[in-house]
Amino acid sequence: MIRLGVNIDHVATVRQARRALEPDPVAAAVLATLGGADGITIHLREDRRHINDRDVRLLRQVVTTILNLELSVADEIVAIACEIKPEQATLVPEKREELTTEGGLDIVTHQTAVAAAMKKLHEAGIAVALFIDPDNRQIEIAKILGARAIEIQTARYAEAKTHAARQIELNALQESTEFARQIGLNVHMGHGLNYENVRAIAQIPGVEELNIGHSIVSRAVLVGMERAVREMKDAIRAACD
Ligand code: PXP
Repeated sequence: MIRLGVNIDHVATVRQARRALEPDPVAAAVLATLGGADGITIHLREDRRHINDRDVRLLRQVVTTILNLELSVADEIVAIACEIKPEQATLVPEKREELTTEGGLDIVTHQTAVAAAMKKLHEAGIAVALFIDPDNRQIEIAKILGARAIEIQTARYAEAKTHAARQIELNALQESTEFARQIGLNVHMGHGLNYENVRAIAQIPGVEELNIGHSIVSRAVLVGMERAVREMKDAIRAACD
């Protein structure tokens, strides 16, 4: 069964709306794990707008499954990752003005910076995934750079307005997965996935991990974290049956 990494950044976003102590993403991680999360995903942004250093350190101690730290190639953040040693680090692009991560990391253009960050992470014994667009050139470079996995961004699929447009994006995701698997990369996916559109994604052969945040935390506000995660696991399981 495909692994589900639950991204809990939005829990910290609610806390930061009041610069308060609650809700605590550490508690959310525990409840998500009880609900069946296979891993916990967090993004330590350079501006610390949601997850902060305290969260990363506590989550490292509390998460007993897979801690997946999303990070930019910035030296300061890479140094924290190397010290904390999450099971997995996913390199993502980062712009201060964006609401959320926009598009994949262009590892063709930023090859040198990505290679330098990967070297440090590998030396610390951390498995590295690269968050990229469904593009064969990007996938080839990921392989050349020595990534263990790629996380293919699903935003264009999730945002497609028509059935035809969605099908085109789905085909691109399928073809990219096939190509990446052929050259020996593990394939993860994420961004914009919800309880409905996850079905077609979970049916793509070869996808091993999905990272989902917004839709799960949104549901958790209404039904609780444990139930929201269980329902996403059920949706993924139903698609795979
Ligand atoms: N994967 C990556 C690399 C991301 O940056 C994000 C958003 O933080 C996600 C997955 C989760 O996206 P969403 O919140 O839309 O489910």
